[in-house]
Amino acid sequence: MRTQVGIVGAGPAGLMLSHLLHLSGIESVVIENRSRQYVQERVRAGVLEQGSVDLMIETGVGERLKRQGLVHHGVELRFNGRGHRIDFADLTGGKGITIYAQHEVVKDLTDARLAAGGQVIFEVDNVSVHDFDGSATPTIRFRKDGAARQIECDFIAGCDGFHGICRPTIPEGVLTAFERVYPFAWLGILAEVAPSSDELIYANHERGFALHSMRSPQLTRLYLQCAPDECIEEWPDARIWEELHRRFATQVGWKLHEGPIVQKGITEMRSFVVEPMQYGNLFLAGDAAHIVPPTGAKGLNLAVADVRVLARALAEFYSSRSRDLLERYSETCLRRVWKVQRFSWWMTSMLHRFEDDNAFDRRRQLAELDYVTSSRAASQSLAENYVGLPME
Ligand code: FAD
Ligand code: DHB
Repeated sequence: MRTQVGIVGAGPAGLMLSHLLHLSGIESVVIENRSRQYVQERVRAGVLEQGSVDLMIETGVGERLKRQGLVHHGVELRFNGRGHRIDFADLTGGKGITIYAQHEVVKDLTDARLAAGGQVIFEVDNVSVHDFDGSATPTIRFRKDGAARQIECDFIAGCDGFHGICRPTIPEGVLTAFERVYPFAWLGILAEVAPSSDELIYANHERGFALHSMRSPQLTRLYLQCAPDECIEEWPDARIWEELHRRFATQVGWKLHEGPIVQKGITEMRSFVVEPMQYGNLFLAGDAAHIVPPTGAKGLNLAVADVRVLARALAEFYSSRSRDLLERYSETCLRRVWKVQRFSWWMTSMLHRFEDDNAFDRRRQLAELDYVTSSRAASQSLAENYVGLPME
């Protein structure tokens, strides 16, 4: 099989890239090792920045998002038993975020690609990437239904997530990795109950962080900080609710609604970046190149921002044969990536309980929250990062 851009991974990065390339008249093939059903049901992120929403709408994949997405113009930071609203609309000139599940984004993009005759090949295995150093034709090898197949292309996009094969295939010594692993994890649940608040609540509590989010007027998404080595069996439903009630408790008697838990899982927390995000004709995008801790709700949005840069660079190459934007892909993305890394690390540090923190650290953390919620300059900094820095 021959195509212009071979894409490994049908997550938000790979599918959005394929969609944007198609709109510029560039052919691609996406291969994915999981099934279509699996990727469309995998519960992950849920917050879309204004820029991600605008991109989906402008490129014709925003119909369901416009109908079902929940637009929010603020979030609450809760600490010392009190809630403080950060008013995004006021602080950012009317911007907001939209709650729309990542698997719905994946579904909309997959449907759009298939409806336009695009190729997304699910359930492949033994994927490997070859000849991308510029000396030969880049090739992706894989197996489908037991048969060996290959895609020859001009460029390979490694959109295969943190555990994918593209990044580790780049020769040793080319990439520098920057990493921080956090000494805690998030236990996330999806509960069949109306959200207990109209907006997201980020709670700092001495027992640990908790987050109230939602997926629809009938579905609540909740997270709580737990130890990184805990297994989900240690958290029966009753223990989860008890802990959530404690961490969200307020002086004004706010009430958390309980409902049947339909999904639960534990996610590790990590900050990770590789530099550069490219080698020869192989370009890394999204989680394949960087991971943020989820506190700033940035992972999915960062993946979308990368592929927007990559799609533009590839479009320039095919229209003018200039490699200028392609050569600058990594540099362009990394400027934004590092700012988002900083924000995600900062939100994580401000909101979580660190086991080795002493009484001084705890007071300093509360002072920071007090400052962020009482100074317009500080609230504005949080707001402009949360709704999303400019895409480029
Ligand atoms: P992915 O979505 O990981 O997509 C990569 C795709 O490549 C996957 O479909 C994978 O199956 C496929 N793949 C992997 N290896 C191969 C291979 N060898 N061959 C073919 N295909 C392959 N972010 C937030 O902001 N908030 C959250 O609450 C949040 N929760 C998360 C929970 C979990 C469990 C995880 C893992 C991530 C979470 N994230 C969250 C991060 C966010 O979901 C990611 O940043 C986002 O998915 C990045 O998109 P991507 O397309 O780069 O990678
Ligand atoms: C959600 C996830 C996040 O990481 C976050 O910061 C806010 C909301 C969510 O899944 O809804």
